[in-house]
Amino acid sequence: MTRSYIWPIVTRFAHLLLILFFAISYLLGDFEELLSLHVAFGLALAVVLFFRVLWGFVGPKYSRFSDFNFSLKDLIHYLLNPFSKTKEYIGHNPASSWAIVAMFVVGFLTTISGLLLYGIQENHGIFAFLHNSFYRDMEFLEDAHELFANLFVAIVLVHIAGSLLDKFVKNGDAIDSMISGYKKTKNKIVVELNLFQKIFAIIWIGVSLFSLYYLIFTNNIFVATHYEKQDYAALHSDFVEECASCHIIYPPYLLPKKSWEIMMSDLENHFGDDASLEDETNLSILNFLKQRSAENSTHQAAFGILKSLKDRNDTIIAISQTPYWKEIHKDIDEKIYKSEQVKSRANCAACHVDFEKGLLENHLIKMPKVEK
Ligand code: HEC
Ligand code: HEC
Repeated sequence: MTRSYIWPIVTRFAHLLLILFFAISYLLGDFEELLSLHVAFGLALAVVLFFRVLWGFVGPKYSRFSDFNFSLKDLIHYLLNPFSKTKEYIGHNPASSWAIVAMFVVGFLTTISGLLLYGIQENHGIFAFLHNSFYRDMEFLEDAHELFANLFVAIVLVHIAGSLLDKFVKNGDAIDSMISGYKKTKNKIVVELNLFQKIFAIIWIGVSLFSLYYLIFTNNIFVATHYEKQDYAALHSDFVEECASCHIIYPPYLLPKKSWEIMMSDLENHFGDDASLEDETNLSILNFLKQRSAENSTHQAAFGILKSLKDRNDTIIAISQTPYWKEIHKDIDEKIYKSEQVKSRANCAACHVDFEKGLLENHLIKMPKVEK
């Protein structure tokens, strides 16, 4: 037996990037506030994968698809004989050949469904133009995206299990070779990159790293929001003058028409204050609120609030009393609401940047630091 150099450094480095980008993106998926980072790592992962697919055609031996083993007979034999060491696979064994192709396909589906979801549901990125026409409950797309991502995890786990089996049961060196590049082989083999492959490798790693930087640190078309800041004072000066004298501006899309009607019909008893207005001003503000109410908005929050108030006979006029709001904010410590910086649940702008400009976005959530 001799040691042969099988995996050039670019293959190993890209492998490492795939692991890192996927793990980070997957873990970030659970945090609404970090959605734009989740998207950035997910897309950067897609870039690395894309180049890896091309590498399958232009890369050196063992990295090429033509060197993969897709024989079902060999696959079955390989899976049924987990302990046998009879056949030596220098490049990819049948199981890893299939796993890699499955990862490309599922990775692609995860990316596309994620981008669509980001555009249609969140009004962000290259598919944001679909937001207004297709904005509905996007549970289907969300489920699909999660399914693909979890399928990816499942393949990764099988792939890892296979590698561990190789190392600890078969005494193989697949894992070590992904770090050092070397494998034990019968005959001496040296994989060398030609000039084209070297240039390709530099572009691969360069573009992958740059794309991550670009996606995180620039306001680019892949993550940019398509919601626009509203200047409520310019849209309706009375609304801001009369309704933002005691508290912040509440964007009208956060309550349904009915709630605004009830609120405006009883301003004398407005949360314990008298906020009454002249009839004319009142009507003008009410019309403004109704035009821009939850029913006429495509904001995710408007949709959630409407849905949570549907089929209920009681009339809720505080956004912070809607079941939707309570559900989202239930994990926040009571101490934070009572703190000096926040003071009230109704002080949305304390945690939501640009709230008074009508924006409510995940990346704009900034929790104030509160002393415990
Ligand atoms: C005299 C002071 C005053 C004026 C003027 C006033 N409000 Fe209020 N408003 C309050 C108080 C006090 C609360 C309760 C805030 C809290 O719970 O911390 C409140 C709460 C609200 C809430 C519910 C916030 C939540 O908890 O989700 C909305 C919506 C609201 N006001 C809209 C309006 C509108 C629209 C106008 C203009 C027509 C208006 N307010 C004018 C004092 C005022
Ligand atoms: C003490 C800080 C705090 C206050 C005050 C607060 N929020 Fe939030 N809000 C959060 C946090 C944190 C999240 C993210 C929760 C999560 O994803 O688990 C959130 C999420 C949301 C979301 C869903 C995510 C999104 O961006 O669409 C909406 C809608 C929302 N808040 C609206 C409001 C409104 C309206 C008010 C005022 C009536 C308000 N919040 C007051 C902290 C706050």
